[in-house]
Amino acid sequence: MLGIIGAMQMEVDALKGLMTDQQVRTISNMEYVAGKLDGRPVVAVVCGEGKVAAAICAQTLILEYNVDRIINTGVAGTLCDALGIKDVAVAQDVVQHDMDVTALGLPLGQIPSLDVLKIPCDKDMVAALERAVQEQGCNWRLGTIASGDMFLHTAERKEFIVRQFGAIAGEMEGASIGQVCYLNHVPFAVLRTISDDASGHAPASFEQFAGEAAELACAIVRRFSALLEE
Ligand code: ADE
Repeated sequence: MLGIIGAMQMEVDALKGLMTDQQVRTISNMEYVAGKLDGRPVVAVVCGEGKVAAAICAQTLILEYNVDRIINTGVAGTLCDALGIKDVAVAQDVVQHDMDVTALGLPLGQIPSLDVLKIPCDKDMVAALERAVQEQGCNWRLGTIASGDMFLHTAERKEFIVRQFGAIAGEMEGASIGQVCYLNHVPFAVLRTISDDASGHAPASFEQFAGEAAELACAIVRRFSALLEE
């Protein structure tokens, strides 16, 4: 069964609306909706913003629902010139830009207990996402997606993340879901549509475009789930 995580209601609603045979459970204040998406078993959940909420959610999907894959869908701020509003970032890997144990000699972003700096996404899931995005005719890029417990809204922080990690998009959950999946040997992927510039215009742009961008991501995830089975 595929687990689908979005941080906000708007990032999952369109998918939930399509699901049949729904069974709802609330765990740790998060609503898990299990059912069928175009006849395929999935469980979709809104985890709330930030890395801790996302990690709780991913671990719960693994332990309570025994999911065999997890996709994180939603919106992000762009960190590269090639991606504008409603363009698409597909993660090849993820990193936590606010993990900092440099004082003890680790590189920035390195989680002390992990043997990788950037956590790689599952190749088959990435390939299915790439096909789904191409079918939608979107402008898209494959690259590193950086996560941290902050809404990115300054040029300084944006430039810092780009310089340190070469990331193409920034958000608040993907890399913690990646950490949980990596530790549990569960394949995962992250798909993000761009809602803002992760810089000075980000708050207003997010307000204006997040809804539309989130819906586009849902459409891509729907097609992705079909392609996974082919
Ligand atoms: N999600 C969408 N836009 C974002 C931003 N600018 N920072 C963090 N997460 C986001």
